[in-house]
Parts: sequence; C-alpha cells; structure tokens
Amino acid sequence: MKKVVCEHIVKRFEGVTAVNDFHLEIADKEFIVIVGPSGCGKSTSLRMIAGLEQQTSGDIYIGGQKVSDKPPRDRNIAMVFQNYALYPHMNVYDNMAFSLKLQGVDKKEIDRRVREAAEILNIAQYLERKPKELSGGQRQRVALGRAIVREPAVFLMDEPLSNLDAKLRVQMRTEIAKLHHRLGATTIYVTHDQIEAMTMADRIVVMKDGVIQQIADPQTIYDKPANRFVASFIGMPPMNFIDCRLEKREAGLWLVRETMAVALPAAWAERLSQRFGQQVVLGVRPENIIPADAGGPLAAKVEVVEPLGAETLLHVRLDGQSLVVKAGPDYQPDEGQTITLSFDMNKAHVFDHETGTTIV
Ligand SMILES: Nc1ncnc2c1ncn2[C@@H]1O[C@H](COP(=O)(O)OP(=O)(O)OP(=O)(O)O)[C@@H](O)[C@H]1O
Ligand SMILES: [Mg+2]
Repeated sequence: MKKVVCEHIVKRFEGVTAVNDFHLEIADKEFIVIVGPSGCGKSTSLRMIAGLEQQTSGDIYIGGQKVSDKPPRDRNIAMVFQNYALYPHMNVYDNMAFSLKLQGVDKKEIDRRVREAAEILNIAQYLERKPKELSGGQRQRVALGRAIVREPAVFLMDEPLSNLDAKLRVQMRTEIAKLHHRLGATTIYVTHDQIEAMTMADRIVVMKDGVIQQIADPQTIYDKPANRFVASFIGMPPMNFIDCRLEKREAGLWLVRETMAVALPAAWAERLSQRFGQQVVLGVRPENIIPADAGGPLAAKVEVVEPLGAETLLHVRLDGQSLVVKAGPDYQPDEGQTITLSFDMNKAHVFDHETGTTIV
C-alpha cells in the first residue's frame, strides 16, 4: 500500500498563507499532477509531503503511516527537482549509487539496482561518463535514475523537465509516463505546464492562490471545469469568456449583449432559474465555435488569421469582444472580412459573474 493522504494541510509563512486546506487522497500507483500558476503553492505542497517543509497544521500519511513529524529520510520517498545538481566529479554510476552507499546497502545490491535503473532509462552505455559529458536529457535521466534506485514508495517530482528544451521535454514526458507504467510507483508531479498535466496525469489537482480549485481526471477537468479559473487555465488557446445578461423570453432562455443574442439549451433552464435578468459569463472554447463565410447566427469581423498547418486560429471581434476561433486548416478568410459564427452550446458553460463558479 503506497497511498498518500494529505489531510487538510495548511502552510503559513510570515504574512502569507502559501497553502490552505490542501486535502488530497492519492491511491496506490496513481500519477497525480499538481498544476497552477507561479506562486500558487505547488512546490510548498510537495515539500511538505517530502518533509522538507513543516506544515502549520494538518497531517500527512504515506503508506498508511502518519509521517507528519518524520524527517524526509524516514518517509520512503524520492524527489526529483528542476535543478537536479548531479555531483560533477562522480561518474553516472557513482551518482546513482551514492545515496545507497550512504544507506550502507550491500555492494552487489547497489550494482543490481544501478544497472537495472540504467537499463530502464536507456543510459547503460554512459555509466562511466561524468555529468558534463552528457546532454541535458541524459543528465535528467541520471537524476531520475538516482531516484529509482532508492525504490521509494512514492516519487515526488517538482518541474523536473523545465530546464530542457521543448523537443526534449516532449520526449522525456513520454519517458516518464512509460517509466510510471513500468514501475507502477505512486507519483506526485508538479508543473505549470498544462500539456504535461493533461498527458501524464491519472488525476490533476489545479491550484490557485494556495487553494485547490478542482481535483479530477484530465477529461473531466477539460469538459467540466469547476470554475472560470480552471476553464481558462486548461486548454490552449484558452476558453473565450463573454459577459452577457441572462434573459427569459417567450422563445426560451437567451444570453444577450448589445447586438448579440445566443439561445440556450432548454435543459439549462432549471440551473439558471434563479438568475434571470442577471449578468453571467458565457464560456466557449475556440474549437466549439464554428466559423463560416455566411449562414451562422452571429456576425464577426476577422482581425488576424494564424494558419498553423493542422488548424487555423482566427482572432475575431464579436459585439465589441475579442474571441479566438479554431478553424480547420483549409478555412482561411481574409483579415477584415465579416464572417459568421455559431457556438456549439452543448459544450459551452455559464459562470457566475462575481465568483466565477460554474453554473452550467
Ligand atoms: N520560505 C518561504 N518564506 C516565505 N514565503 C514563501 C516561502 N516559500 C514560498 N513562499 C511563498 O509561498 C507561496 C507559494 O510558493 P510556491 O513555491 O509553493 O509556489 P509554486 O506554485 O511552486 O510556484 P512556481 O511555479 O513559481 O514554482 C508564494 O507566494 C511564495 O512567495
Ligand atoms: Mg515551484
């Protein structure tokens, strides 16, 4: 059992609540990604689980055992950081073997674990080399190897790929996912990269200002964001948000602005019934807006066209509001042209104007 439980943990630094009421139960073998903007408390949360930072209140359990007051070495975890700082004077083998030697592990056992980890990470041919003779990706593998050889109950990773270039990041992302399948170790991975979160996680934890906004699998986070923040943070380009007034008319429910009026699905009536006449925010993802030269219900002016090869991004203006639309690769209207848009309302959302909470 390699479950990790964070029970309502709080971390206050002088004058700042860095993490507030962080409550999360992580299953054995689960891959959890904590994501959020800079300063939202991701590293602090991870460091408390590691025992590098003492929580102000709340408790932490690893493998069913309360570890709240235990030092890092007694928590059966291994951590991989962004700055993986290998020992420059030691070769790859010794870098990986170092912590095991300190623990007094038998020499033969060390050799077995180092060679096995090197095999898994595809660095067996570099064991004699010094870190400076390796590429960034190879060094990052050694850093992972150092964690693997310890055979911990839980891997904790804090932005381990952010020092690598874009191509290598994608490659290492896949490597870490494969590694997780192979080792099946419980992993908590911190990043501010939403693609890493979406592609690697069993479940994503989205944080903002020290507070968990939503915990769910990637598809649920994408399809059913708990609030406007989650909706805007996950998805590229981000969801479009349009301030509207909710009106009940004879022909059903409408969201209206100066010149724009969008009919809402009848099924939403109950959830919106307390809000007739109020300001709300309509959220539509760029891929859920269908552009056409003519025939759609909303007229918009094209400001910028960005052909990306596999798709075209259109920056348009609709009723005084800028929107981004994702079109097919073959749809490339002229800049300045007036086109029409229709929203796929079954995939749209309505948020509370003040709190940003999802209403629909
Ligand atoms: N030792 C400290 N003393 C005081 N404040 C701290 C300390 N460490 C972190 N903080 C504050 O706690 C908040 C959360 O910091 P944290 O490092 O957890 O953010 P993060 O989500 O990891 O951000 P990033 O993506 O930039 O790494 C920030 O406001 C930060 O300034
Ligand atoms: Mg951090």
